[in-house]
Amino acid sequence: HTNLAPFPEGFLWGASTSAYQVEGAWDQDGKAPSVQDLHEPRGQADFKVASDHYHHVEEDVELMARMGLKAYRFSVAWARVMPDPFGDPNPAGLAFYDRLVNALIAHGIEPIVTMYHFDLPLSLHEAGGWANRRTTDAFERYARVLFEHFGDRVKMWLTINEQNVMINHPNAMNPGRTPSQRELYQQCHHMFVASAKATLLLHQLWPDAKIGPAPNITAIYPETCDPADAIAADDWESIRCWLYLDVACYGRYNPLVWRYLEERGCTPEMEPGDAELLAAAKPDFLGVNYYATATVKAPKNDGHDRAPRNGDQQVMIGEEGVYRAGTNPHLTQTPYGWIVDPVGLRTTLRRIASRYAMPILITENGLGTHDEVAADGGVHDQYRIDYLQMHFEQAQLALSDGVDLIGFCPWSFMDLVSTHNGYAKRYGFVYVDRDECDLRSLERIPKDSFHWYREVIETNGASL
Ligand code: BG6
Repeated sequence: HTNLAPFPEGFLWGASTSAYQVEGAWDQDGKAPSVQDLHEPRGQADFKVASDHYHHVEEDVELMARMGLKAYRFSVAWARVMPDPFGDPNPAGLAFYDRLVNALIAHGIEPIVTMYHFDLPLSLHEAGGWANRRTTDAFERYARVLFEHFGDRVKMWLTINEQNVMINHPNAMNPGRTPSQRELYQQCHHMFVASAKATLLLHQLWPDAKIGPAPNITAIYPETCDPADAIAADDWESIRCWLYLDVACYGRYNPLVWRYLEERGCTPEMEPGDAELLAAAKPDFLGVNYYATATVKAPKNDGHDRAPRNGDQQVMIGEEGVYRAGTNPHLTQTPYGWIVDPVGLRTTLRRIASRYAMPILITENGLGTHDEVAADGGVHDQYRIDYLQMHFEQAQLALSDGVDLIGFCPWSFMDLVSTHNGYAKRYGFVYVDRDECDLRSLERIPKDSFHWYREVIETNGASL
């Protein structure tokens, strides 16, 4: 670009976390268990205490203020606010989030609230989870409680974190079993219905507030210029990404994905009024989690193109008749095997902007790796600075391309329980002194990336 666009005034330099990954206090003050509390503890202390944010909330917000954050994206634990999903809200649960929201506002930090981040209340899970349509009613009830209670202060909401990951990696969210593809797309439809109901409700209650989805979106590359590889990339991008944003923005299913579902006998059952509901609920902005692109090629249908199984996690294997995982010689990987592709962020943002022409908020992006406290007491995470610097630069290029990017919330504000790797792999700007088994002091130590990010924010990106 000859004219690199500056980051706009009011750009939301933020940071993200989610409830079950930071809060701890898993059974305190009336909180009911969620599906996350079913996970085998990787260490004695794991999810039950996490980063003990529940007992450090004021101190943690002080640190956010010191870093100069303009926004903080966190999630509310559904089972903390609604221990009985069809009953009354838990006053102690609401009080915790009041403390958090009020502290943020007192420091001029915009709260961005994810309503549901992987932690479905266990009682709903036991009643069939998202396959049961009653879960959409529970979500609407929960949404009403949140909007009525916090709506005067919280003006930015995200409905569901990574709905597409929950569908594409079903084991993570359906502990103990793998639902059929047919059931999964029924779950998926119910999540669409739940989001649409929440979106309409927020607009009715607080016309000045904004709401959007937060899927994990990434450009999919064909491994070669073989047209068959291009079709495979296109198919997987539609199934993995566009399905979710098309329903949110266009209020209808993506035609290619609908046909794919028809061929497999997996089209969801819809109730009368669903189509109208999806069409009526319009998001105000799109939250996007971006970590890595994927590269694919045409399937061979030799039994090796298969959907991810339990334990595959981030590894993309392929799907019979759709695509097979390819390799990309241009990209490097983190020590944990995650692809690093900053330009892929720009490509992804451009594709989203081109399809939907909506404001975009990056709700997650970051480097998960091992960190160590050095002899001088600091955490010298130059690798994380390098990673974020490259992604911020590409975000600025995307802005210059015409993408309406309104903010960037790296994952994560502080170290937290990684979904796949506990505390062995850390993402935070702030180190939390604990490991898998030993809670140690839980002391907070700002890493080098904390000081670097403070300057980025202070200069509105000019220091990059
Ligand atoms: C995203 C999730 O998929 O990736 C987060 O929204 C998660 O909850 C993050 O922590 C990183 O993944 P992981 O497995 O390294 O924790």
